[in-house]
Amino acid sequence: MTRNLLLFFILSLWACKTIYMNSGNPPEPYRPLFHFTPPQMWMNDPNGLVYYEGEYHLFYQYYPEATVWGPMHWGHAVSTDLVHWQHLPIALFPDSLGYIFSGSAVIDWNNTSKLGKSGKPPMVAIFTHHNMDGEKAGTHDFQFQSLAYSNDKGRTWTKYPGNPVLPNTEKIRDFRDPHVRWDADSKQWILVLAAQNHVKIYGSPDLIHWSHLSDFGENLGAHGGVWECPDLLPMTVENIYPVSSPNEKKWVLLQSLNPGGPNGGSATQYFVGRFDGKNFTLDPDFAPLAANGKAMWLDWGKDNYAGVTWADIPASDGRNLFVGWMSNWEYATKVPTKTWRSAMTLPRSLHLKRYPEGLRLTSEPIKELEKLRTKPTELNMADFNGMVDLSSTIDASSMELQLEVETGLPGELSIELSNDLGERYIIGYNAARNVFFSDRRQTGKHDFSETFAAKRTEAPRLTSNKHLSLHLFFDVASCELFADGGLTAITEIYFPTHNFSKIKLQSNRSCSVQLKGYSLQRASK
Ligand code: FRU
Repeated sequence: MTRNLLLFFILSLWACKTIYMNSGNPPEPYRPLFHFTPPQMWMNDPNGLVYYEGEYHLFYQYYPEATVWGPMHWGHAVSTDLVHWQHLPIALFPDSLGYIFSGSAVIDWNNTSKLGKSGKPPMVAIFTHHNMDGEKAGTHDFQFQSLAYSNDKGRTWTKYPGNPVLPNTEKIRDFRDPHVRWDADSKQWILVLAAQNHVKIYGSPDLIHWSHLSDFGENLGAHGGVWECPDLLPMTVENIYPVSSPNEKKWVLLQSLNPGGPNGGSATQYFVGRFDGKNFTLDPDFAPLAANGKAMWLDWGKDNYAGVTWADIPASDGRNLFVGWMSNWEYATKVPTKTWRSAMTLPRSLHLKRYPEGLRLTSEPIKELEKLRTKPTELNMADFNGMVDLSSTIDASSMELQLEVETGLPGELSIELSNDLGERYIIGYNAARNVFFSDRRQTGKHDFSETFAAKRTEAPRLTSNKHLSLHLFFDVASCELFADGGLTAITEIYFPTHNFSKIKLQSNRSCSVQLKGYSLQRASK
């Protein structure tokens, strides 16, 4: 009898679990369908982005005890396609040296660190240790760089016993976020980190012993806030029109700063230049754009921060794959989600292109996202002026839109999402001001912050091409715009009281519009 009862109990538990799993997650307002979010609690920057043996790793700044920032861990997830993610146990925990701040990971293919095992290369993470006791005691060297390694595909980690590998000898208060990669030309590991108002570059033969190579940026670019989370990567120039030197190699520095973004708060600027194994110097074509105070922005919206690229993408793929944190320190800890806080942006591939106007970085959503498409809709309007309602054909809260505007620029062309409460989000292009804009002033909840919905975000159009293209992704509580082939990007979050259910396209001047639309399926479990 007792045995039967026990069996009954086990079977009931199993049945409950099955029903729960089949019914999907309990409804959680604002949880996106195809953006990465932590299972619960607080997340900020992406960390340790690395590809190894068929898996894309995404580590992230994680505080598992609360939905606000706290003692930092590295959360962990893997994916085989950058769209569907599997959550894994926490990878790195705070220790006696401090919290685990942002950093990067690489595969040490030649076992230069000697941390490999059984003929397999180690996965090596280099991150900032942030020592709270040191900070409280008023010292200035409480941030330093440390190493951890894994011999089992990132599942378990050992901290290097000789940490820190890069101490803070100059006692710089903001000395963090190391990003490491192998430079095949100078045959060394290079590490770039943020040192308050500039970056410092270091070199190493083995990931353990580092020597200072150079500094960059003190009087260049935007300086409205502290520099954080750099990434220095080689890129091949893709030429939009034929030039004398094809396959030119340049180096690009991604540089997040907080505050000081183009529309307020946190944002990421970029610099284009060359790296000779020691110094990073600006390309003469790019230099005028980065004169002190001026900047080019990877994304002009308020919600793409601390993004970096994946290491060790196979040469056969060759893409520079990027992901950012889809929030802003202005209000990140106050946004109205309940069980978790914040999402990552969509993964993007970055391109360096030479336009008639000069060298520019573009962002494109990765092609893997196409597998989420359902219910394709197409609309060709040779002479569009007014409004078209798409609510019955596309799911307004989770969709992709591609708009090609072929002739004559519109006065203002926009997409408006709304709900039954009259809340609305508008995104589009304004010809008079020659800007793209994102307007979340009437999107619903915004009383958690004075700046969240204070004004509409604007981003300049960076080409004079007659043909205008807008590629958009909407996912419950966020919109990402890739305009002009990703030359101008805007990423913004919003919080309607009820999900948006209506969508309309509007133009106040005649233009020819081709539209493709898709409802997008859930990717998250
Ligand atoms: C950027 C940042 C990093 C730091 C981390 C701490 O958002 O401030 O500079 O390492 O977050 O969580």
